[in-house]
Amino acid sequence: MKMILLGPPGAGKGTQAARLVEYFAIPQISTGDMLRAAVRAQTPMGLKAKAAMDSGALVTDEIVIGIVSERLQQEDCSSGFILDGFPRTLAQADALNATLLDLGKNLDAVVSLQVGTDVLVERLTGRRACRGCARGFHVRFDPPAVEGACDGCGAELFQRDDDQEATIRNRMDVYHKQTAPLEGYYGQAGLLKVVDGMAPIADVQRQVLDILKAI
Ligand code: AP5
Ligand code: MG
Repeated sequence: MKMILLGPPGAGKGTQAARLVEYFAIPQISTGDMLRAAVRAQTPMGLKAKAAMDSGALVTDEIVIGIVSERLQQEDCSSGFILDGFPRTLAQADALNATLLDLGKNLDAVVSLQVGTDVLVERLTGRRACRGCARGFHVRFDPPAVEGACDGCGAELFQRDDDQEATIRNRMDVYHKQTAPLEGYYGQAGLLKVVDGMAPIADVQRQVLDILKAI
């Protein structure tokens, strides 16, 4: 399965990607997670990306296209991958097409998770992420068994710096201006599958799996 999870901040891309990783045994490629790791490690790329991420703006196409192209060439992507948070601009989508063409691969599906703005804000303000394995939780909708600790690896949970309401609103604006046009792009390519992302996590997972199993 070679697919993209598309959707605004908080739509559930990371949540669903983690479940698809288990089901299909293919890697999740989250540009957000990769960039946050680079910021933490204070690599030259992380230092360049930090200001944009803190404000809710996009990191340059050049940086993210570079990290995804490199990642897709790794052995564990040979039987498939789940792109989460990439592409986010038309230039990134074109670059992805070029990379896949070079690798002799085609996308199977682009799954778009649809969620209303008020629900997105509630999800993001209540989100917690694991410092160890990056797994996501929600204080109400998907709480960990032990408050403040990851169910998977036991590491501490934290709130992302960009999950403050003002930054969330900026990320939404950026999504509508720069990323939403990708729905039309992939619709024209015959790859777009639209899913109601407002349902509980397990129901969204079922909808996504039903679509993917039919491909
Ligand atoms: P990124 O990390 O990709 O953030 P995002 O797109 O804003 O998306 P999120 O991770 O916030 O949301 P999600 O859809 O994964 O939701 P989740 O599953 O966690 O990017 C961060 C920044 O990095 C960007 O702003 C940009 O600066 C930079 N960047 C990254 N990629 C880039 C690119 N390609 N180009 C340029 N810059 C880039 O769910 C959210 C919460 O809701 C969780 O708490 C979860 O438990 C809960 N939840 C999920 N589903 C449900 C449900 N069905 N019902 C109830 N609760 C749910
Ligand atoms: Mg995410």
